[in-house]
Amino acid sequence: MVTERNTAATRRGHARDVDHPYPLHLDLSGRRAVVVGGGPVGARRARELVSAGADVLLVAPQACEEVVAMADAGDLAWRQGRWCATDLDGAWLVHTATGDARTDDAVAAEATSRRTWCVRASRTEGDARTRAWTPAVVRQDDVVISVTAGGDPRRSAALRDGVRLGLSSGALPLRRHRRPSADHDRGGLGRVTLVGGGPGDASLITLAGRRALAEADVVVVDRLAPRALLDELDADVEVVDVGKAPDHHPVPQREIERVLVDRALRGLRVVRLKGGDGYVFGRGAEEAAACRAAGITVDVVPGITSALAVPAAAGIPVTHRGVARSVTVMTGHEVLGDDELLDLAAQTARGGTLVVLMGVSRLPELAAGLAAQGADPDLPVALVESGCTPEQRTTTATLATAAQVAQSRGVRAPAVIVIGLVAAMAHPTPQQPTPVVDLRTRATTRPPAHAPAPEPAQEPVR
Ligand SMILES: C[S@@+](CC[C@H](N)C(=O)[O-])C[C@H]1O[C@@H](n2cnc3c(N)ncnc32)[C@H](O)[C@@H]1O
Repeated sequence: MVTERNTAATRRGHARDVDHPYPLHLDLSGRRAVVVGGGPVGARRARELVSAGADVLLVAPQACEEVVAMADAGDLAWRQGRWCATDLDGAWLVHTATGDARTDDAVAAEATSRRTWCVRASRTEGDARTRAWTPAVVRQDDVVISVTAGGDPRRSAALRDGVRLGLSSGALPLRRHRRPSADHDRGGLGRVTLVGGGPGDASLITLAGRRALAEADVVVVDRLAPRALLDELDADVEVVDVGKAPDHHPVPQREIERVLVDRALRGLRVVRLKGGDGYVFGRGAEEAAACRAAGITVDVVPGITSALAVPAAAGIPVTHRGVARSVTVMTGHEVLGDDELLDLAAQTARGGTLVVLMGVSRLPELAAGLAAQGADPDLPVALVESGCTPEQRTTTATLATAAQVAQSRGVRAPAVIVIGLVAAMAHPTPQQPTPVVDLRTRATTRPPAHAPAPEPAQEPVR
């Protein structure tokens, strides 16, 4: 019986072995690994073995700088000289990378006679005489993926790069289904990742943000976050909706923080998904502080803030060479004193741009206050509602007409208001003529009155 099986295996031959390698990851910590060859390839192999915790002996008459540095640092032992059979004493694994095929053959033959696996740098994975080879590897955190592809190393590398992209972009399902051990995750505690989700369109979140979502067990989400991404979550991911809308009682900030801490203390990976950037009028720093105070590890993934992206989506650069050299991002939710208004009016006089978030309901006071402090009543104003979403609508006016135009057009939150010369560069949504502004002379032609039925402007939404 044994003889027949051996005969069949022999008939299948080496080509079959190469097509069906036996994948294995080795724990080499504390085990002897020998590298023969001191050039860049040997150095790379040695470095990987050192990272894996192996007890590395490198044998070579000469060695490159990296090997010398590792030897000086005590990471490996370098025996300077030609290799000899006794170098392989006690080795669990041998890499040979001398650059000389005959020497590599001799090292491999010696290793094979000792039943020790030997990887030869001068042979590829497709070489029938090679009995062990290193795959293309991608690592991300605790995930290690090895690729071999029919004896074609460049194909392996290309596939490896594709897998890396999938991992880094969150396109691959990274979520853990077994709670991490203490060894892997600092005492088995969960962690909180504050993710700025961008201004609304799901494609405007960062790769890091997507990856965090792909790993999440719990997602605590705001109303203005890119909620389409929630559809991609596994069915058993807990979604805690703390979305705040004018007709919806907001979840108190302390309660949001309590949920974050509670879930993380249960060992879960929590993503706090916010609109825009969590640190721009997003209370992200408060949430991070609350989590850290409870001993929770917090990561922060910045997002594309609506303050910059929404004007851009409407055609407005918030700075523009020769026109606007500064930009102030402000909340329109607060009542401003005369001094603050005077300062803001002076900024617009110097060509600065004001970007106002949460400013729809107080627009009349803000516009009148700026004008009272000397701002040009003909200064262009653009109001961009639901930017970066299919409902995006841009309304243009001047400082003098903005409040009345906003009311007649029914402008409502969420909206970004841009005040300054650059607002004249907006692409208004049809039914609204562009105010004609010559950026060199600052002359503005006021837009005509607006027809649509009036709707009340709504409170800004946090
Ligand atoms: C509490 S602030 C949060 C800002 C957010 N952290 C950011 O960086 O974009 C909410 C305000 O942002 C603005 N906003 C957010 N997303 C918007 C969007 N897609 N279109 C227009 N305005 C938006 C509105 O002014 C809204 O009232």
